Amino acid sequence: MSILGVESVVFGVADLAEHARFWSDFGLPVEHVDEQEAIFRLASGSRVIVYAHGDPRLPVPDPFPGDGIKETVWGAAGAGELETIVARLAREVAVTREADGTAHAVCPDGQPIGLRVWAKRPVVSTASPVNTPGSHPRFNQHRIWRQRAIPKTINHVVFFSPDYVASFEFYERMLGFRYTDHSLGTGIFARADGTFEHHSIFWVNCDLPIAPDHFKFMHIAFGMDDIDEVMLGANLMEARGWKNTTMNTSGGISRHRISSAIYYYCEIPGEAGEAEYHADTDYLDDNWVPRAWNFKFGSLLWSNNAPPIFRGPDIPWEMTFDADRQSFAPFRKAEPGKQPATGELADITAADEHAI
Ligand SMILES: [Fe+2]
Repeated sequence: MSILGVESVVFGVADLAEHARFWSDFGLPVEHVDEQEAIFRLASGSRVIVYAHGDPRLPVPDPFPGDGIKETVWGAAGAGELETIVARLAREVAVTREADGTAHAVCPDGQPIGLRVWAKRPVVSTASPVNTPGSHPRFNQHRIWRQRAIPKTINHVVFFSPDYVASFEFYERMLGFRYTDHSLGTGIFARADGTFEHHSIFWVNCDLPIAPDHFKFMHIAFGMDDIDEVMLGANLMEARGWKNTTMNTSGGISRHRISSAIYYYCEIPGEAGEAEYHADTDYLDDNWVPRAWNFKFGSLLWSNNAPPIFRGPDIPWEMTFDADRQSFAPFRKAEPGKQPATGELADITAADEHAI
């Protein structure tokens, strides 16, 4: 194992106080908030760090206009792992170091990243057993009664990439990330080798009609214990007036087929992107066989009230195992004439954004 997951994300924002209020309502445990910074630390030890635009601690140059995650800091398992990765990285991109050993670099797609040793904390997390008509593991027990949604982990970050195949291959080559799944034409899911969550990062194709034409933050997902905790969070966020952007099941929660995860999105202030409550995702290791999916089939498991492109009797049940990565070739930018996207992908609209 070398990378354990997201140690921290660093937001650059216009309205620091508003963002601090948002993340407090979202349930992130506050470590420190003042007029210069807002820092939240989860049970895993991962942090969400928020600075105002112009703060010298933000990457220069700014990777994209507006609010969002400006740097993703990956946590290395130890000093040896960190030095190995930094040495490898330095062969392809410029790397700078801080006095505490933290390394900074910019990926070829424009994403600023950091690397530092991370003492990741074990997370105490449990869900109520699930009863079925023929199986009653919750026998003579009531469900867990929760008072407040408290995110435990940062499960993944998502960025728009102008060349999502190349973005993944850089991460694989430099950081040892594993290929998990490919939603054809929409993006690749990849896992840090030191975590079991289905994906630690997802790159969304900038050629989609919903996407900007440049690298940009899209969303960040937080691990929750179960569907009850997701709904507690959703209820509180809606009561406090934060905008739900989960457009695809009556405005409520949904579940992806790829990753199996239940999800609920809120819009981060400043149109920064979305914060996602995330529960019951797939957990896996290197025995996993990557899959390539028709994007309409892979996107939604609960699709009755989804945007039209994701429902109906003509959704093809198309999934192939893709250990040999044959699915990558049509989407490589480096091979002219093979991009982009089919006519179906061109039909995706803004309302479909959170279904993929
Ligand atoms: Fe997500």
